[in-house]
Amino acid sequence: MSSLSSPFPKSQALFERAQQSIAGGVNSGIRKMEMPVPLYFSHGRGGRLYDVDGNEFIDFQCGQGAILYGHAPEGMADAIGAQARLGVHWAAQSELEIEVAERLQKMIPSAERVRFNSSATEVVIAAFRIARAHTGKPLILRFEGHYHGWGDEGLVGFAPPPDKWGEEEAPSRLHPSAGIISEVTERFVVARWNDIEHLRRRVAQYHGQIAAIVFEPCGCNTSCIEPIPGLLDAIRELCDAEGALMIADETITGFRYGAGGAQTFYGASPDLTVLGKAIGGGVPFAALVGRERFFETVVSGKVVHAGTLNGNPLCLAASKWCLDTILALGPEHPGPLIALGRELMKGLSELAARHRIPLFVQGPGQIFHGTMLKPGAAEGPVVSYRDYVRRHDAPRWAHLRRCLLGHGVRAIERGLWFMSLAHTSADVAEALERAEPAFAQHAAEWSAG
Ligand SMILES: Cc1ncc(COP(=O)(O)O)c(C=O)c1O
Repeated sequence: MSSLSSPFPKSQALFERAQQSIAGGVNSGIRKMEMPVPLYFSHGRGGRLYDVDGNEFIDFQCGQGAILYGHAPEGMADAIGAQARLGVHWAAQSELEIEVAERLQKMIPSAERVRFNSSATEVVIAAFRIARAHTGKPLILRFEGHYHGWGDEGLVGFAPPPDKWGEEEAPSRLHPSAGIISEVTERFVVARWNDIEHLRRRVAQYHGQIAAIVFEPCGCNTSCIEPIPGLLDAIRELCDAEGALMIADETITGFRYGAGGAQTFYGASPDLTVLGKAIGGGVPFAALVGRERFFETVVSGKVVHAGTLNGNPLCLAASKWCLDTILALGPEHPGPLIALGRELMKGLSELAARHRIPLFVQGPGQIFHGTMLKPGAAEGPVVSYRDYVRRHDAPRWAHLRRCLLGHGVRAIERGLWFMSLAHTSADVAEALERAEPAFAQHAAEWSAG
């Protein structure tokens, strides 16, 4: 697997075949970023994935974060299998849905009430709808570089290119997709993350019009930027002062940051929380949880919340197993996961230094991000989306990522690394052994141009 030429011939052939039936060959645009070819997998086990060419990868992509429990855990397979024999879908009630909801109440202090959906994108739509209906106000304030699903409303101002940034004080509401309801952008206010005074000014500017402030408690979708001290308190205070809802999008951080999510980890008390990914461990499952009073509009029927597959028993069975796994870890979680991630971060930093590769890793550990610094870029933590774009050398990271893939280590195309509960210290040590020749290859090829 050391050559960049073609360790993936079967994936290549399948990708060519796929393009004759699946539009563009993939079912989510981002998957096309995988170089040299989007890979096709045959199976996974624990922290490892196996592709159709027989290559084995120590996997830190982890299903974009959903695979917190590792690939194909036995207990989850048993739970899904047992439920499948009873029925996969009823579009009706089951005791299972109450059992999962009760577990969420137990785990997350702000989860007084729960509603299920199949994806976090849907949950974001529900949360915004509830916020506007509850407050009677039109605007949602969000942060540059934070991702809230692929819907019209989730992507406003997510990651504009530098020539479309707009003023520092008034970040652009650019939507990356064609075909949206264009007026949707007018319903958002975009602010920069981790600048409390700027945030206060943005809120003051739209005083009386803001229905909610939505945020990723840790900016995982841009360089894994943790909140500066006081930021989450400031969001709470501003929401209270404005009568707006505080919406934590814990799609990535939920369960990964502990049973109580990032809100417990960092100490925040949101009104509504979006849960996805690890709540289902890889099955399509998501939830909106929050304070009881904010569900009144849903209970009364004023706000429509629906979905054929909501509370699907197959997904509920998987989720129950996932939540029980987290509960069984007790308050220690996520300590060991953080420690394991930090071992990997340290090892990658040492490799980078040894091979003179300007890779800078940051994040709490259970998830982290590698920024590849551009020539001459300042060192030190990335603090915002704009800072990241200014300093990150995307083509260079893509090259290193491809070298790593060629040596059996899989990270995310955008630079994120997810740890799973199935990874061990031995996996981390082996990943670093595999990464050594990948870093050497990258250094040699990159300096040769
Ligand atoms: C923070 C955040 N919110 C929402 C979503 C949307 O989740 P889904 O793709 O399951 O709809 C994602 C997906 O990556 C996310 O990272």
